[in-house]
Amino acid sequence: MNFASDNAGPAAPEIMAAVIAANEGSAMPYGNDPVRDGAIQKIRDLFEAPEASVHLVATGTAANALALSVLARPWEAIFCHRAAHIEADECGAPEFYTGGAKLALVEGVGAKMTPEALRKAIHAKGGGDVHSVQRGPVSITQITEEGAVYALPEIEALSDVAREFGLQLHLDGARFANACATLGCTPAEMTWKAGVDAVSFGGTKNGCLGVEAVVIFDQSSAWELELRRKRGGHLFSKHRYLSAQMEAYITDGLWLRLAQSANARCAELAEGLRGLPGASFMEEPRGNLVFVHLPRAAHARAMAAGAKYYLFGEDQALDGDPETPILCRLVCDWSCTSEKVQSLLALFRGV
Ligand SMILES: Cc1ncc(COP(=O)(O)O)c(C=O)c1O
Repeated sequence: MNFASDNAGPAAPEIMAAVIAANEGSAMPYGNDPVRDGAIQKIRDLFEAPEASVHLVATGTAANALALSVLARPWEAIFCHRAAHIEADECGAPEFYTGGAKLALVEGVGAKMTPEALRKAIHAKGGGDVHSVQRGPVSITQITEEGAVYALPEIEALSDVAREFGLQLHLDGARFANACATLGCTPAEMTWKAGVDAVSFGGTKNGCLGVEAVVIFDQSSAWELELRRKRGGHLFSKHRYLSAQMEAYITDGLWLRLAQSANARCAELAEGLRGLPGASFMEEPRGNLVFVHLPRAAHARAMAAGAKYYLFGEDQALDGDPETPILCRLVCDWSCTSEKVQSLLALFRGV
């Protein structure tokens, strides 16, 4: 019973079928395969962005780092939340790929930055002084690392601040589909229509084997990104397998259906957790992640029965005071079922 990560889930059958179909015979390497152009066009159509530059890679870290490498100069600051994946979980890849850009950390509840906090952080990096790092792009994550969701006006407000200073806005969309599903908005509404300049459009967490797209809403850095992807070791020679996954992911709205299913199971889980004595949410769950405090005894029961998920905080021992609340993260991937959710809830309840 695995609620540890979206990445613990399997690949969707439609994705596997597309990979198997792509495995017929030979195809030209390095993105010259016959499926690539169709996959790229589908992403442009999905985002209603005919001019977008689109590049496929296999990991979210590569997508973020490559996107930021064309948005930030080495002497610039990238403004992101303290809990952002690019800060906390990418082993310095953005700094490495940008050739040394500095991450400037912004505070905010639920790993969301507020326009006020962003403006303060930008002011603190006083542009124009040769001794100081210069102001560079802003990067936000949707859904955030703590399971919160930016409403569209909140994205617009951050974009307005970035634009006030002439800065660009990047969106880490590792859980992009889950965000669209919960907001009921289109990819265009959540990105360029709200002032986002570049997106890491995730596939892997939501049923792909391993594919993400860097989407930049103009062509000005298209060639530079191609060169950086190659130089950074992320131009797949057998690119057809990336193309096939992305093509299948977009076809017939699979991306959205998988996310809707994950979100629905997560809502069911949240509903059940609400009724548990001692349960309290860190953030009201909106997508496919729940951060919830539960009594130690509930964790001890679930984990002894084989449930897998992450605990947070200094005290994670399972054998102390049974009532002490311990924070955990529970993730529903696209394949999660109601039975699995109910089984976990039964373990937490101890029945
Ligand atoms: C917010 C966020 N961004 C990006 C990623 C992509 O990471 P990876 O390089 O492991 O695919 C993840 C995965 O955990 C994530 O949670």
